[in-house]
Amino acid sequence: MDRTSVPCPAWLVKRLTQAGGSVSFHKFMEWSLNDPEYGAYGTGQLKIGRQGDFTTSPSLGDDFAHLLAIQLAEWFEQLEQFVDKERTLSLLDFGPGEGDLSFDLISALEEICPALLPRLELILVETNQAMVLRQKKRLAPLTTVPIRWRSFDQLAKAPVTGVMIAHEMLDALPVERLVWRDQRLWRQGVCLEKLDSESHLSFTELPLSAALLTALADARVCLDIQIPPLDAADGWCSEWHCELEPWLHQAAKALTCGPLLVIDYALEARRYYSASRPAGTLMAYRQQIASGALLQDPGQWDLTAHLCLETLQFFAERQGWTRLGEARQGQALLALGLAEKLHALQKLPSSQLSIALQRREALLRLVDPVGLGEFRWLAFELNQNPYGVEEPLGLRCRFLEDPIS
Ligand SMILES: C[S@@+](CC[C@H](N)C(=O)[O-])C[C@H]1O[C@@H](n2cnc3c(N)ncnc32)[C@H](O)[C@@H]1O
Repeated sequence: MDRTSVPCPAWLVKRLTQAGGSVSFHKFMEWSLNDPEYGAYGTGQLKIGRQGDFTTSPSLGDDFAHLLAIQLAEWFEQLEQFVDKERTLSLLDFGPGEGDLSFDLISALEEICPALLPRLELILVETNQAMVLRQKKRLAPLTTVPIRWRSFDQLAKAPVTGVMIAHEMLDALPVERLVWRDQRLWRQGVCLEKLDSESHLSFTELPLSAALLTALADARVCLDIQIPPLDAADGWCSEWHCELEPWLHQAAKALTCGPLLVIDYALEARRYYSASRPAGTLMAYRQQIASGALLQDPGQWDLTAHLCLETLQFFAERQGWTRLGEARQGQALLALGLAEKLHALQKLPSSQLSIALQRREALLRLVDPVGLGEFRWLAFELNQNPYGVEEPLGLRCRFLEDPIS
């Protein structure tokens, strides 16, 4: 057993005691991130940005959104051909964090395609109310389009037509952890321990649930993914994204027709579930520090796991989504004109030198092959259009095209 043991905060002692002394890692992650009283996002104490706990592409400046908006404008233009003229088109931002991406995308669309604005609305889907408050503040100056916050349940009752974006949101969904120990696969748990009369937290091993057994059998049979890999050493550990397929199901229920763009850290299954990755991909982030100490100060750190490309695509297709394609962020942004943006900075007057340098640094970070440039952009589409034939829309993805052409 992993002997990691750290002091347990009083709120979690209470929760774990009520739960009988131990819970799955999945439950622990859910409490740590989303508990309204103690969770890192639930209380809104995590801050995204250069001065915050971690940065994301949109938090580096508005150039990211301006490039992404080129793709969105093309998708909206194509969607206009499929739906009647009165129909509102929606931009849906899932897990909007500080609201930077939403703000900058609408501002960019105002510039790129002003004619779209009268029929456009912005919908934010955020489960943590403390984050909603921050998003409302950030988006207050945006007056050009109607803005609504909606839950999946509300959207299922009145599905919309438009473009869905999940930018660094799916990596925040709580995961199960799997441990290979004593020639057996276990579900990782988190339990209370008494050390010198103090309550500590440590990992424990629980039997696999029926849901996990079914999911792992599906992965083996349908995708040829072997968990654990054949040469895994004792103690090998990895993640399973048990909330991904239900999320894709709900996303499909929220849309009549349009694309879904997922932008996130992701790995191919052979790299994800590999013997040479013995501790999985989960990391904790706070104050710009990355840590592998997942049990440390629960509720104070962001916890995030990479996605697995094949399982994401498999779940998406099983939930009715048609795959459009996938690219690394570096390639996607170059295809959308990042090099031209970089070049244009040279033309800024010398009075704007510091702004030009900051934007240059941000643009280079967005495509850095050992940083944000490694992120994956995965696009899917759905057509449940009540106005026409349910055929694939065949949406064009400029971000997948060769940047040179
Ligand atoms: C890592 S932040 C991403 C922020 C933003 N998209 C960005 O890239 O800057 C994750 C966001 O997802 C939200 N979140 C977590 N689980 C969610 C869920 N099931 N549905 C919607 N939002 C969720 C968090 O509260 C937070 O706002």
